[in-house]
Amino acid sequence: MIEKDIQRILVSEEEIRAKISSVGAKISRDYEGKDPFFVGVLKGCFIFMADLMRCVDIRCSMDFMAVSSYSGTNSTGAVKINKDLREDIAGRHLILVEDILDSGITLNYLKSYLTIRQPASIAVATLLDKPARRKADIKADYSCFEIPDAFVVGYGLDYNERYRNLPYIGVLKPEIYS
Ligand code: IMP
Ligand code: MG
Repeated sequence: MIEKDIQRILVSEEEIRAKISSVGAKISRDYEGKDPFFVGVLKGCFIFMADLMRCVDIRCSMDFMAVSSYSGTNSTGAVKINKDLREDIAGRHLILVEDILDSGITLNYLKSYLTIRQPASIAVATLLDKPARRKADIKADYSCFEIPDAFVVGYGLDYNERYRNLPYIGVLKPEIYS
C-alpha cells in the first residue's frame, strides 16, 4: 500500500471533485462561443485534465504537450519540448492545463513558446499553486488550490514517477525522500 508513505492528506478527493466542478463551470461561462483549445502539460496534468474537461460543457478541443527542464539551466528557464502540438493554434483560445504552478518557469517558457504561433489568447489553469516559490512572473487564471511550500504527490503528481495514482493530494513522509 502506497498510502503508508503519506504523512497527511492535504486536499481530499471530495474537495478536488467539488472545486474542479466549479472551475469547469466558470471556464464554460468564460469561453462560451470561443471554442477553446485545452493544452495539457504531461505527465502531471493527466488526471486533472480528464476530470476538468468533463466539467466543461461547451464546444472545445484538446491536445497534450510534454516538456522537461534542462538540468542546470533553471536560471535561463530553458525547457525541452518532448512532445509538441500538431494542430495549428493561430487564432485559437488556448487554456494551458498544469498540475502545479511552482517556480512558474515551465509555464512561463511554454507561454512564450506558444505565443509565437499567434493564438488569440493564452490562459493558465492549474490544480495547485505554490505562490511562495514563484520565480517567473506568471499567475494562474484558474487555480483550484493554493498550497503551502510542501512537496506533494497524488492525483497525477509524482515523486520519482511514483504516487501519481493516489486519488487525493498528499504530503510525502520526509523519510521517503531523505
Ligand atoms: P515549475 O516550473 O517550477 O513551476 O514546476 C514545474 C513542475 O515541477 C510541475 O509541473 C511539477 O511536475 C513539478 N513539481 C513542482 N512542485 C511539485 C510537488 O510538490 N510535487 C510534485 N511535483 C512538483
Ligand atoms: Mg508537471
